Amino acid sequence: MIPDVKPNSVLYLDNVSVSFDGFKALNSLSIVIEPGELRAIIGPNGAGKTTMMDIITGKTRPDTGQVFFNGQTDLTKLDEADIAQLGIGRKFQKPTVFESHTVWDNIELALNRRRGVFSTLFYRLSSEDRSRIDEILSTVRLTHRRDDLAANLSHGQKQWLEIGMLLAQEPKLLLVDEPVAGMTDAETAETAILLKEIAKTRSVVVVEHDMGFIRDLGVKVTCLAEGSVLAEGSIDFVSSDPKVIENYLGR
Ligand SMILES: Nc1ncnc2c1ncn2[C@@H]1O[C@H](COP(=O)(O)OP(=O)(O)OP(=O)(O)O)[C@@H](O)[C@H]1O
Ligand SMILES: [Mg+2]
Repeated sequence: MIPDVKPNSVLYLDNVSVSFDGFKALNSLSIVIEPGELRAIIGPNGAGKTTMMDIITGKTRPDTGQVFFNGQTDLTKLDEADIAQLGIGRKFQKPTVFESHTVWDNIELALNRRRGVFSTLFYRLSSEDRSRIDEILSTVRLTHRRDDLAANLSHGQKQWLEIGMLLAQEPKLLLVDEPVAGMTDAETAETAILLKEIAKTRSVVVVEHDMGFIRDLGVKVTCLAEGSVLAEGSIDFVSSDPKVIENYLGR
């Protein structure tokens, strides 16, 4: 029996705790993400932000608590491959694009990955696929670089390309960990616009330390500290919270 599940949520973490060698990385963490929501997660180093993503994607199992996707599926019972298959995509901090392939080919490879090996063997790119790739390239601002090798992109463009590769898999929920670290100011500003566009058709959870970027997003912010929610609300509300100032912003 599924307890008190938030039926309309895309993601519902209910009282999730996990310890590593006696250290509580997550401590009764509860978070609800609505369909189509873009949520920003902030908080000091070691607060448990990445661990939360590890729990959602099945990389780490919680000691206690439950994680519901679309108000029903308990993700803590599934493995990483099943969870990806359900439509949860994750972007790690370091870009992992295929450097020796073109930008276009990277997206095409990601599109094929979704289909599985068997269908790929006999597969020819349809005009529908081509227009989907064009659409993704335009979303991630890389149309003009489509024939260039990924190796020749800037760091920020590689991050966008990887986001594009995730989009090819049509995730319903996209988790993005520190996307703007190492980006130029212009790339950072563009990334805020880009993520807002992406969140029009899916839910996105983005972890960042760059407060200018968080402010640009203009969405609900959750501040984690010591594995729990410290404050949640608008950026003005959260950033004026004395606990948030003491634990994070004022450092
Ligand atoms: N697999 C693991 N094994 C042992 N300890 C871990 C593991 N994963 C996370 N931790 C610990 O859990 C705590 C939370 O780490 P986490 O990476 O989630 O923090 P974070 O909020 O993402 O921090 P940052 O802003 O630095 O990325 C840290 O003390 C970390 O060392
Ligand atoms: Mg982290």
